[in-house]
Amino acid sequence: MNSLKTIPAHVAIIMDGNGRWAKQRGKERYEGHLAGVDAVRSAVRSAVRNGVKWLTLYAFSTENWARPIAEVEAIMQLFCKTVVGEGDELARQGVRVRIMGERTHFSPEVISMIERIESTTAEGDKLTLVLAFNYSARREMVLAAQTLAKRVAEGEIKAEDISEEHFSAALMTADIPDPDFIIRTSGECRLSNFLLWQASYAEFYFPEVLWPDFGEEEFDAAMAVYAERDRRYGKVIEE
Ligand code: IPE
Ligand code: IPE
Ligand code: MG
Repeated sequence: MNSLKTIPAHVAIIMDGNGRWAKQRGKERYEGHLAGVDAVRSAVRSAVRNGVKWLTLYAFSTENWARPIAEVEAIMQLFCKTVVGEGDELARQGVRVRIMGERTHFSPEVISMIERIESTTAEGDKLTLVLAFNYSARREMVLAAQTLAKRVAEGEIKAEDISEEHFSAALMTADIPDPDFIIRTSGECRLSNFLLWQASYAEFYFPEVLWPDFGEEEFDAAMAVYAERDRRYGKVIEE
């Protein structure tokens, strides 16, 4: 366990920079994604070791479908291979896996792989690893609005009674606490359609390092950055 006094319960990472990492080495973008999988393994180990309870990793956005078809297919294959191959090891580490994103685009094979890893790891109680795959925060909010509109139409709740709690409960993250700490690697400072509702009081950190180079040392350095933050939530903190 880490000796820092505050460890974020929920860390969310926008894993960015795989393509640039590959380019710097004269390799195909795909090789950057492959190297990115090692960084995922390392982040999971670091999260467990630090006592983080929730780790959300942004792996594929709905906007990423607009990339060249060969890259999209390579990412899909890599995702499936990883999801199939890592289940037992994650279960051994006490990691429960959840895949978050719309499943409508996926083939039945992909859906069954997702269901398999979620069930193999269902007992994990050290860390919940949430993989945001085919995820869009705006789409998530639109779907939540539809869910609530149906509940109103069916007379279950009144429109004027819809609260923040109702809205949160209608999101894909219904039973997941809001992220405390959002990290985006590669120096880009934007959310790119990630957890827009849930990020409302998160702390942010934008290290320059490219995702494949984000190892255990970088994870621990990020934990130290978080421990120095003052979270005020609009209040005045007495000295
Ligand atoms: C992040 O790395 C991985 C995905 C978006 C799937 P990128 O592929 O975006 O890498 P850069 O930003 O081009 O370097
Ligand atoms: C965000 O990265 C999505 C993921 C890391 C999965 P992108 O590289 O796709 O985002 P932009 O295009 O730079 O905003
Ligand atoms: Mg990118």
